Amino acid sequence: MSGMATKARAINLGQGFPDFPMNAELVELVNKAMKDGFNQYAPMPGHPPLLESIAEKIESLYNQSVNPQTEITITPGGTYAIYTAFTTILQAGDEVIVFDPSYDSYVPNIVVNGGVPVTVPLDYPTYKIDWEKVRAAKTAKTKAIILNSPHNPTGAVRSLDDINELRNFVKDTNIFIVSDEVYEHIILDGKPHYSMLHYPDLFERSFVCFSFGKVYHCTGWKLGYCVAPEWLTTEFRKVHQFNAFSCFTPTQVALASFLKNSEHYLSIPDFMQKKRDYFQEKMSASRFQALPTHGSYFQIYSYKEISDEPDTVFAKNMVATHGVAAIPVSAFYQSGKDDRVLRFCFAKKKETIDLAVEKLMKV
Ligand SMILES: Cc1ncc(COP(=O)(O)O)c(C=O)c1O
Repeated sequence: MSGMATKARAINLGQGFPDFPMNAELVELVNKAMKDGFNQYAPMPGHPPLLESIAEKIESLYNQSVNPQTEITITPGGTYAIYTAFTTILQAGDEVIVFDPSYDSYVPNIVVNGGVPVTVPLDYPTYKIDWEKVRAAKTAKTKAIILNSPHNPTGAVRSLDDINELRNFVKDTNIFIVSDEVYEHIILDGKPHYSMLHYPDLFERSFVCFSFGKVYHCTGWKLGYCVAPEWLTTEFRKVHQFNAFSCFTPTQVALASFLKNSEHYLSIPDFMQKKRDYFQEKMSASRFQALPTHGSYFQIYSYKEISDEPDTVFAKNMVATHGVAAIPVSAFYQSGKDDRVLRFCFAKKKETIDLAVEKLMKV
């Protein structure tokens, strides 16, 4: 859709990236790190002061003490952390429970590692987890379950009930958890984020994956990290050692100090809430219908009242005719389920949103 958007000179609310500038102080810190000579390989697990800063953040947010030397690994992005977690644990034929719809990298990551994705549909239109269905999907071959909250593409946020269901689900099993928490701070409507890091019985079997790109509005940095207990981190690093090996040093040096100011990430929910509410308010005059979302920087809309076309056809026509790109949500389904829903990214400047909504009004 981004390719089509560029070609049609359309406004791209499809791909998830902010179009406003990132924090100038952080940019300065990266420049400074380069000028100060931090331009060689960082240690394989990550720049030690950054690992320390992350451990402090985890302690203060999730009340979990993690060892920065043995339980955190800096990775080139959240997606790489997820991929590496799968490579670490999967053997041919192992089954992984994946929700349908899901972020698009999970299934290819599982398959390329010899695993078998077992999809469990989320309820429509709430996109809640039906734990009865999850239990029905469990077999002797279930090796892992991948969770993602806040959820891309739907913006659903998992609840304390989900955490308790998950605890019961994995209890007395060897099932691993891969938890994609890249939107940990983009959480709206006063909802809390329930991290695997907060629950020792879940963390003991988890790879918890994060992305600095999502937190600091710099998706192009492709820098993230994986937090896992020592016994899992040791194995994770055996894969990482002979793949990326280490990540871009100057950004790690800059983030080591920038991360210490919690105001930067604690202000994100409020900042994003304003953007989401502004987008929703303007869109309320259109024929699109907002579905409930509480997290991530995506808002999904049903266009059932506008057209019966399949979502891929509708989205393509919308770019060509109205000059706004959005992602058809069926693209995130293994089943191809099409509920006539589009995903819009609202992490955009006010001018971008104004311009896009003006066009969407005519659809
Ligand atoms: C759910 C989810 N996980 C992971 C990522 C990727 O993170 P990164 O760019 O750090 O690899 C994205 C990016 O869109 C995402 O939406």
